[in-house]
Amino acid sequence: MSSSRVAVEDLDAGMHADEDAINVLFVCLGNICRSPMAEGAFRRTVQQLGFKNKFRRIDSCGTASYHSGERPDPRTVQLLAKHGIHTSHLARQLATSDFNDFDYILAMDDANLRDITSAQPKGSGAKVMLFGNFGVNKSEQIQDPYYGGQAGFDRNYAQIVRFTKGFLREVFGADIDE
Ligand code: 4NP
Repeated sequence: MSSSRVAVEDLDAGMHADEDAINVLFVCLGNICRSPMAEGAFRRTVQQLGFKNKFRRIDSCGTASYHSGERPDPRTVQLLAKHGIHTSHLARQLATSDFNDFDYILAMDDANLRDITSAQPKGSGAKVMLFGNFGVNKSEQIQDPYYGGQAGFDRNYAQIVRFTKGFLREVFGADIDE
């Protein structure tokens, strides 16, 4: 593997993570387009910016089970590859245990947010939020690109990188440029 590629397993294993490292879960509808893209791009960006040790587990899932067990959509795989990111993710549905396992559960759009919130057990400490809360416009949606063209995927990717930087600024006080 060339040095510009990021092994997904690197961070999943939680190797070299700080003691207080956190777990982050990205959630969309099918877990084949947006959330595996977010998982890969977030992992890559935190590594590039020197925040890898702040995370133990970075994962993604869908609110629906239509695509469980499938690899990400080829358009997501290609887009990630274009940015030097490899994904070995297989789609899975949101599980009740996720609300115990993850510190942040980040929804791609408001429909995902509603579905996650309604599945959240009482007393779960997980912070369930719109990922777009970490953008300038706090309610920015990462729109479903499934039935559209490549441009939608490109737009999603740019949003994800922007929100990742916002997350690092807000959660860890990171001093990073746009
Ligand atoms: P995602 O996109 O939620 O970003 O993974 C979708 C993938 C599949 C479907 C809808 C959205 N679908 O209806 O099958």
